[in-house]
Amino acid sequence: MSKVLVTGVAGFIGSNLSEKLLKENYSIIGVDNFDDFYDRKIKEKNISVFSNNPKFKFFELDICKNINLLNKEKFDFVIHLAAKAGVLNSITDIETYIHNNIIGTKNVLELMRKVDCNKMIFSSSSSVYGNTTKKSFSENDNTDFPLSPYATSKKSCELMIYNYHNNYNINSIILRLFSVYGKNQRPDLLFSKFSDRIRLDKTIEIYGEGNSMRDYTEVSDIVDSILLSISFLRKNKKVYSIFNIGTSSPTPISEVKDFLYKSFQKEPKIRYLTSHKGDMILTCADITKARLILGYDPKINFEKGITKFCKWYKEK
Ligand SMILES: NC(=O)c1ccc[n+]([C@@H]2O[C@H](COP(=O)([O-])OP(=O)(O)OC[C@H]3O[C@@H](n4cnc5c(N)ncnc54)[C@H](O)[C@@H]3O)[C@@H](O)[C@H]2O)c1
Repeated sequence: MSKVLVTGVAGFIGSNLSEKLLKENYSIIGVDNFDDFYDRKIKEKNISVFSNNPKFKFFELDICKNINLLNKEKFDFVIHLAAKAGVLNSITDIETYIHNNIIGTKNVLELMRKVDCNKMIFSSSSSVYGNTTKKSFSENDNTDFPLSPYATSKKSCELMIYNYHNNYNINSIILRLFSVYGKNQRPDLLFSKFSDRIRLDKTIEIYGEGNSMRDYTEVSDIVDSILLSISFLRKNKKVYSIFNIGTSSPTPISEVKDFLYKSFQKEPKIRYLTSHKGDMILTCADITKARLILGYDPKINFEKGITKFCKWYKEK
């Protein structure tokens, strides 16, 4: 079975993915620097579930600084998830986002050249689409107007990965992920933030009037899309392809808040704030291409997914 390098292995998506890969009998080289975006203890707990598995080897390292520690490792695929995540934070911390995400990705690509690995899956983001008047976003839409340094960093990485495909035959699949949620979710993400405040009887803050909409995608569907991408890269040569990974079915923030208040059986306490310039009004993935080429078929709708999320949140 294949050996996979997973960067950002201790994070939200990385830990969910690794659990699944190990179940499917893959060997994993996992890399994370426990970046301070959120509490290191959360990430240590994420990987504790599988860190004793003999098929899992972990390196605590920063891909911007000491990726050379991996020069002697062998792997067939790279799933590059390590990044400074979060749109809003990036607006006030430009330097960190641009440095970490762009230099980090360049270093991962250089490592691939050194160890002769030519298959990469990269986690890009719906944020590259910026604000458009379109009802759903397709991979061919213009992405020249990202609204935040985070989105700019993701678009830059997509372009750089194409350079390496063209110049060094690195075959790559770019997955533009749409608002991921579920088990091990980051504390800064909407469902976690609202749940924390509702549980503590604090007022929740909503930017805009609650009518902005997101294509919320459950993490198990994201993991499936990565496994499908591995199969596609295994079967095809000369690949550089971009896919939207969402559900095509956006939900208004007001519906998220209503569901969570009901689930926690609390009276709503809400403050509405002016929207940020860097935030998008709507995200909705056109997933025709991923369905057709990868065989991607999201299984978890919003109601099922948020019910699953609440169960996980209350148990943790
Ligand atoms: N969660 C979402 O909704 C979403 C949406 C679109 C794209 N993405 C992308 O998916 C990927 C994973 O996101 P996530 O939500 O799991 O975030 P996360 O913050 O939970 O995971 C990222 C992990 O990368 C690690 N990391 C960061 N910089 C590093 C470095 N220089 N060296 C080594 N490790 C480093 C962090 O410590 C963290 O554990 C990111 O690239 C993110 O941009 C996420």
